[in-house]
Amino acid sequence: MKRHAMYPGTFDPITNGHQDLVRRAAGLFDRVIVAIASNPNKAPLFSLEQRVDLARKVLADLPNVEVMGYSGLTVEFARKHDLSVVVRGLRAVSDFEFEFQLANMSRHLAREIETVFLTPQEQFTFISSSLIREIAVLGGETKEFVHPIVEAELKKLKRG
Ligand SMILES: Nc1ncnc2c1ncn2[C@@H]1O[C@H](COP(=O)(O)OP(=O)(O)OP(=O)(O)O)[C@@H](O)[C@H]1O
Ligand SMILES: [Mg+2]
Repeated sequence: MKRHAMYPGTFDPITNGHQDLVRRAAGLFDRVIVAIASNPNKAPLFSLEQRVDLARKVLADLPNVEVMGYSGLTVEFARKHDLSVVVRGLRAVSDFEFEFQLANMSRHLAREIETVFLTPQEQFTFISSSLIREIAVLGGETKEFVHPIVEAELKKLKRG
C-alpha cells in the first residue's frame, strides 16, 4: 500500500527547519504534499503565491515532494487528496501542547487520518518562521537559517 502524507503549515517563509522535516518525510513516505495554508488570520508577511513559489524552489530536488496552497480545513484537504498521514514537527516541549491539541482535534474530525511527529536535527530546533521574519525586518542576517533563495527575498523586504 502506498503511503501518502501531507505536511501542513504556513511556511511564512520556509526555513531550514521545515526543509529538514520535508527531507525526512520524503524518505519515509511514497509521496509528500507540502500543504501551505493561506491562513489569513495569521496575517502572513508573504502572499500565498510567494510562499508556494519559495517552497517549490527550495524543494525542487525532491521528486516525491509536491507543494500546494490551500485554504479551509486541513483534514478536508487530506481527504480530498487521499493523504492518510499528517506530518508535524516538534522543536521543543513548548511545541508539544499545541501540537497535541491539534492532533486530537484532527482525530475527532477525521478518524482515518494519523498525525505523526518528526524532530529536526538539533541545529534547527530553535528556528521558526516568526523569528526569521523578525530578524529580517530588523535588518539582521538570516543566511544560516534559510535557503539562499529565501534569504534574497527577505533582503528585498528590508529594502522595500
Ligand atoms: N525548525 C523546525 N523544526 C521542526 N519542525 C518545525 C520547525 N519549524 C516549524 N516546524 C513545524 O512545522 C509545522 C508548520 O509550522 P509553521 O508553518 O507554523 O512554522 P513556524 O516556524 O512555526 O512558523 P511561525 O513562527 O510563523 O508559527 C509545525 O508542526 C511546526 O512545529
Ligand atoms: Mg508555528
